[in-house]
Formats: sequence, structure tokens, C-alpha cells
Amino acid sequence: MGRDDWDAQSLPDLAGRRYLVTGATAGLGYFSSLQLAGAGAHVIMTGRNPNRLAASRAAVLRQLPDADVTTLLLDTSNLGSVRAAAATVRGRSGLHGLLLNAGVVHPPKHRETRDGHELVFATNALGHYALAGELLLPLAAGRGRMVWVGSFVTSLSPFDVLDPELEVGYAPRRAYAQSKVATTALGLEADRRLRAANVPIASVVAHPGYAIGGRTRGILGVNEPSKIKRFTDNLQTPIAQSKERGARSLVRALVDPSVEGGELWGPSFVLRGRPHLARPGRIVRDEDLAAQLWDYCERATGVVWPYLKAAKTRRGWRR
Ligand SMILES: NC(=O)c1ccc[n+]([C@@H]2O[C@H](COP(=O)([O-])OP(=O)(O)OC[C@H]3O[C@@H](n4cnc5c(N)ncnc54)[C@H](OP(=O)(O)O)[C@@H]3O)[C@@H](O)[C@H]2O)c1
Repeated sequence: MGRDDWDAQSLPDLAGRRYLVTGATAGLGYFSSLQLAGAGAHVIMTGRNPNRLAASRAAVLRQLPDADVTTLLLDTSNLGSVRAAAATVRGRSGLHGLLLNAGVVHPPKHRETRDGHELVFATNALGHYALAGELLLPLAAGRGRMVWVGSFVTSLSPFDVLDPELEVGYAPRRAYAQSKVATTALGLEADRRLRAANVPIASVVAHPGYAIGGRTRGILGVNEPSKIKRFTDNLQTPIAQSKERGARSLVRALVDPSVEGGELWGPSFVLRGRPHLARPGRIVRDEDLAAQLWDYCERATGVVWPYLKAAKTRRGWRR
């Protein structure tokens, strides 16, 4: 299947392949899981809340009774939870893809996690950095792929590399934008490092455009927008799409054989549209910024990605 004839509603047969999705209890993570399961994949749906996980798995099974979906507790803001979940996954065989999707989109007022990190950065960036590092061995065994979820806001936002967790000047919106610049820059940096170390894993970035719940079909326990939300979200029809459609760029980045590491995929009209190869903004292409961010994540999580350690010792990094 070539780059122009991708049909998001008719995915390649994924039977025998295993994918893990973070934040699978709602939105893009739920619809990505559904689309992967519909193509025959085994999907490990992960989430931080057991009741919501059970409800989202039940929702997949209502639509696809033969789907091969399991659930696993994983709170990406909690490094202990990340390690425990990764250990469970490593104990099973082979992993073909990792969708690093979970995200705090509307940051709450309290800003610290149990580990003492800023909540949005911890959930969206640090937890995924740690999870991907902890799952590198099974992903390499499956010659797999990891997809980091960025956002269109990354081309509009500055980034303070000296203060990734915004100890000075914290504001919820700024924290969100900063975390998405970080996930995108980390995804591109991961690909450079994996290539340099000859690890057979591709790291790709994807974004869903502007995908909203009130433009998305109702699903019991997963997407139940109020009438007011339906009304206000429908007013945004010209610039928004459903989460189901938004998930298509994420899923293409994860399973299309023609996608390559280091690429960014998103909707053709930026906020909405068919999955399409996009160009990352200037700030996320900054390799020095990405290298500093990587070092920060290593120190903050204590996770050093296997394989890369040896490559680092042999070659030294760019600086
Ligand atoms: N929607 C958009 O327009 C848009 C645009 C750009 C980027 N994105 C990115 O796409 C991703 C998904 O967004 P969405 O629109 O699907 O948001 P959503 O509907 O709010 O879903 C977010 C998902 O992340 C989970 N989550 C939040 N904190 C978590 C944690 N600490 N550990 C594990 N899971 C956690 C939520 O779980 P609970 O059910 O437990 O809350 C939920 O499953 C995010 O990374 C977001 O930044 C979205």
C-alpha cells in the first residue's frame, strides 16, 4: 500500500501483532484501540482507573465481540506505576507498537505528582519517556515502532529548556504546550538515537489535529458529552473533527508500513483531515534542545534507555 492510497477505514491485517496504548479509556486512545483491534491486533489498553478501563474494554467488545483486548493499569504520571506495568508487559512475548497517547489536556489546579514533578509534564512527557525506555527490549524483539503524540500547538509555542517543569511562571496552558513540544522533540530525538545505535525500532510523532468529544459519537462509559458540550462543539465544526477521525493519524503512524522513523503525521488540513505527512516546526527540530531535554528526562526518571547507553559511550553525543 503506497503513501497516497492509505485507507484509514481498511487497515492492513494486524493479526498476530501486539500494541500497547496509553490513555485508552477515552478519546483518541480509545478510538485508536478500537481501530487496531478491528484490524485483528492484540491491544493492551492501559489506563489509570480500573473502572474506566473495564468500561472502555467493554465498549470495544460491544462493537467487536471477537476483539483481542486486554487491560493493564498504568498511570503515566507515576514512575512506580510505569515500571510495574512495563515489567508485566516484558513478561509476555513480543511487542510491535507503543502508542504514547495519555495526556492531561485540561491541567488541574494542583501541579505536583507523588514523585514531585509537575503533573502535565510528568504525565505527557516523563512517563512516556520512561515507559518507552522500559519497553525497548520487547519492542526491539518485535522490530516495532513507538508513536509519540504531539499537537499543532508545538508550532505556536516557545519552550523553556532550562525550566521544563515550569518552576517559574507556571500556567496550565503553558504547561500543556510545553509538554507537547517536549513529547514531539523527544520522539524525534529518540529516532536519531535509535538509528545511531542500530536498534530496529522506529520512533514516529503523530498529532490528531483538533479532535473534540462533542463532535464524536456517543459511547457508553467512554464518550458521553452533555447537550451543552454537543452544542458548543458543533459550533466549531469548520475547524474540528471527531476523536475517531483524529485517531486515524495516530494509527497510521503506528501501523502503516511506509511510515519511517523521524516522521511527523497529522491531518491534511492541520486541524482536521486525512492522515498526512507533516513537517515539524522549528523548535522541535532543534537538536540541541532535544538533547538537553533527553538528559533532563534521564536524570528526572532515572531511566537510561538500554542499547543507547553503549552507543553513547562509543560515540559521545553531538555536544
Ligand atoms: N483532542 C485534541 O484535539 C488533541 C490535540 C492535540 C493533541 N492531543 C493529544 O492527544 C492525546 C489524547 O487526547 P484526547 O483528546 O484523547 O484527551 P482525553 O479525551 O482527555 O483523553 C485523555 C486520556 O489520557 C488519560 N490520562 C490522563 N492522565 C493520565 C495518567 N496520569 N495516566 C494514564 N492515563 C492518563 C485519560 O484517562 P482517564 O480516563 O483516567 O482520565 C484518557 O484516557 C493527549 O496526549 C493530547 O495531548 C489531543
